[in-house]
Amino acid sequence: MDFKKEIGKLVSKNFENLNEDTIIDLLEVPPTYNLGDYAMPCFRLAKELRKAPNVIAQEIVDNIKGNELFERIENVGPYINFFVNKKVFSETVLKEVFVKKEVFGSADIGKGQNALFDYSSPNIAKPFHVGHLRSTVIGNSLYRIYNFLGYNSIGINHLGDWGTQFGKMISAYKRWGDDEALKKEPIKTLQALYVKFHEEAEKNPELEDEGRLWFKKLENGDEEARDIWERFVELSLEEFNRIYDLLKVKFDYNTGESFYEDKMDRIVDMLREKNLLVESEGAYVVDLEKYNMPPCIILKSDGTTIYATRDITAAIYRKETYGFAKAIYLTDYSQKLHFDQWMKVIELMGYDWAKDLYHAPFGRVSTEEGRLQTRKGNVILLDDLLTKAIEKVKEIIEEKNPNLENKDEVAKMVGIGAVIFNDLSNGKIKDIVFNWDRMLSFEGETGPYVQYTHARANSVLSKAEYPITPDVDYSLLTNDEAVNIIRLLYSFQNTAIAAMEKNEPSFIARHVIDIAQAFNKFYHECPIIVEDEELQKARLLIVYSAAIVIKIGLGLLGIEAPQKM
Ligand code: ARG
Repeated sequence: MDFKKEIGKLVSKNFENLNEDTIIDLLEVPPTYNLGDYAMPCFRLAKELRKAPNVIAQEIVDNIKGNELFERIENVGPYINFFVNKKVFSETVLKEVFVKKEVFGSADIGKGQNALFDYSSPNIAKPFHVGHLRSTVIGNSLYRIYNFLGYNSIGINHLGDWGTQFGKMISAYKRWGDDEALKKEPIKTLQALYVKFHEEAEKNPELEDEGRLWFKKLENGDEEARDIWERFVELSLEEFNRIYDLLKVKFDYNTGESFYEDKMDRIVDMLREKNLLVESEGAYVVDLEKYNMPPCIILKSDGTTIYATRDITAAIYRKETYGFAKAIYLTDYSQKLHFDQWMKVIELMGYDWAKDLYHAPFGRVSTEEGRLQTRKGNVILLDDLLTKAIEKVKEIIEEKNPNLENKDEVAKMVGIGAVIFNDLSNGKIKDIVFNWDRMLSFEGETGPYVQYTHARANSVLSKAEYPITPDVDYSLLTNDEAVNIIRLLYSFQNTAIAAMEKNEPSFIARHVIDIAQAFNKFYHECPIIVEDEELQKARLLIVYSAAIVIKIGLGLLGIEAPQKM
């Protein structure tokens, strides 16, 4: 039930000068529930009705007394405060949870439309760093949130698998490559080769030419170059897939930059035809001075394409192939200029859908010791990090609940969940700090806390003496502890919508924390397995509903909810 709509109907029915939508538009949720569940300020009506706002408020209230959906409707000065009837409210919400179960809160806002997500996108032969982890986790969550709200989500891993660096890497591999090492630790070995190439090139600049030559060969389809490159891709993907398996993240398409290799000529021609390409020191660029940005390079002076050329081509390909309503790109904020530039080029090409492209930037990650960077020698391997989280949780379980079944499975869900939750619980633009103890704590605003609450709810349900039923005496669910939970269940959908509109999974993370806290309060204040059958049934229904919605929320974040912990 939509209470705002009900208020709209009620007021407009009794007050013929006002239509439903005008009323709904005016409604606000007051800062505290003492002021009602909804408030309607009447300032904006004054002009049209030619009366003072407080007079209007008074008249409306006088006209609509007596409606069973509302316990009280009163005016305070220019405001009208609506107090929802708690029994009706509890019944409406809990029955809806009971009927809809795991799709409670979902909607069809995006029906028939594709939402495209470009996320994760690590670079072949380079370490998968925490920036990629953030992109993966945020992208995966947005993918799920949009799907939940009716969009058809499409997930693309835009792997960095093309560019001049691969020429250098091939050259380095041919000179110093060690197949044994490569097999054992592909990315580490390739990274070391790359570093070595640059060191050697300082002494012997001809190496640069050799590297360029190999990239040319690669571009021309030279068999040897192609084979070596493919090997790099394959070995790197093996490492990346270990991480994706741990995170349980899947993509609809693993189309990296190389996928656009044969599609760029057409785009360059189009840019030329539209008179957007200008020559600058031998390179071809799109001038963006008018927009206060440096030029967007399309072709370098040696005729090769760059990152931006591939992004422009990819966007056009995706629009032509999938016809997205929105395309959202997840990278850290250091790439903001790059996205601003190439998205501007799309606009200048005359594509009105340029407005549907969104770069959703996020902050950096650091540890207490400093930034988590992938410099020479200071490579923090992501699967090490995830494995460490799992091991640490395993230790905690051994200590707290050594008899738990499926310990390993649960440790995985909780360890990974902790890392994901840590990442998603703050606004994404904020830089985040990795603090193991805080992240893995079962108290505070953490993943394990929320998962633990969910498991606790399930454990209560397993002790229930009656089956869960929505036919309970709802007048037993009008106390603050109960209503606080039910309000959060009711507003869950709005939170999901806001999370989608702002591309902010943190809204969902906050919301599940709020539900978990409200639940724990309820659990402490209101004994559930009580003798009184009616009371037990009513309270069980709340426990059941809270568990469902916490699980839905965690699912939207890409986090699993173990039954037992
Ligand atoms: N591979 C890039 C990096 O590691 C991220 C790619 C992001 N997506 C894109 N379409 N540009 O920085």
